Amino acid sequence: MSAIEMLEEEHKVILRMVKILTVMHERLESGGDVDTAALTEVVDFFRAFADKGHHAKEEDVLFPMLERNGVRSQGCPIGTLTGEHKQGRALMTALNYAIGKYTNGDSTAKDTISATIKGAIDLYPDHIWREDYLLFPMTEKVLPKPELQALTRNFNEVETKFGSDFHKKYEQIVERLEKSFVTNKEGGV
Ligand SMILES: [Fe+2]
Ligand SMILES: [Fe+2]
Repeated sequence: MSAIEMLEEEHKVILRMVKILTVMHERLESGGDVDTAALTEVVDFFRAFADKGHHAKEEDVLFPMLERNGVRSQGCPIGTLTGEHKQGRALMTALNYAIGKYTNGDSTAKDTISATIKGAIDLYPDHIWREDYLLFPMTEKVLPKPELQALTRNFNEVETKFGSDFHKKYEQIVERLEKSFVTNKEGGV
């Protein structure tokens, strides 16, 4: 799998999580209970899989390589995308804090939980669209073939550091949450 294909595959997993968040948000807004266990898994997924695993490949490997090949770090696309990664991190910090407050008996934290989930629903599909349809085609034009091959090698090194169970663990979390949220919803519950 090429470096770009790896990122595209990870985007699909993140978008499956966004679909789960959409159902969670609908439930919260229609008076449903806060499922703190599921929400804690959501925070872990975004921090580990989306941020450490995925954004790190973009920010630490891909963006510097593009910059070395003449793409500026400010503005569109690198500056914009890096800013969106920061927004994603801030949302998870706020969500994690609100889950803690809710667990300690502050029921008003439910509103923050709902708002941060909505923030992630609004952020990620557009962010991923910009990468799939603007950043990646541009990358394939800007980087010479040996650099694209080096990118894939560098990504594989990052993957080796995370270990073979990393992807499996987070895909299983997505599958489990899909069963409790998305599939149940489609079954009419
Ligand atoms: Fe990104
Ligand atoms: Fe991405």
